[in-house]
Amino acid sequence: MTEVSLASQVAAKWRKKRGSLIMALHEIQDVKGYVPWEDAYQLAEEMGVPLARIYEVLTFYNFFKLDAPGKAVISVCTGTACYLKGNDKVLEEFKKELNIGEGESTPDRMFHLQCVRCVGCCGLAPVCVVNGKTYGRVSPNDVRNILDEWRNKLDEDEGVK
Ligand code: FES
Repeated sequence: MTEVSLASQVAAKWRKKRGSLIMALHEIQDVKGYVPWEDAYQLAEEMGVPLARIYEVLTFYNFFKLDAPGKAVISVCTGTACYLKGNDKVLEEFKKELNIGEGESTPDRMFHLQCVRCVGCCGLAPVCVVNGKTYGRVSPNDVRNILDEWRNKLDEDEGVK
């Protein structure tokens, strides 16, 4: 299986449209919660835009974030298909489990919870994305497992386990 990065998908979508850099950066931030530098580099390369121009846009608009708001950014899709399949209940479960609201991060900055519009895999609705990993047909009962999976992963990354 070949995995195409989000930045590559976004670059392919916007490459030929003039003046679309801001839209491309928005799309990355919508999914990841911020614009990582590696994505900015990739966009520069694949959209044929100088990196300096991307840096200018990212620092000019306050809206763009350059740092991760949490180590794991949970994006709950609130597009029509996901909404109709009950993603509002999944969102509520994340809020309850993490004790935070939409757009907030846990005090230890381990998790950040946000809502995003359609992430392009409506066939798997309801969908959540955590740091780029897509979870399809999610039910409120899956929320605790998803959080445990990421707690373990983040601990491993930090060498806690
Ligand atoms: S509406 Fe959620 S993936 Fe399309």
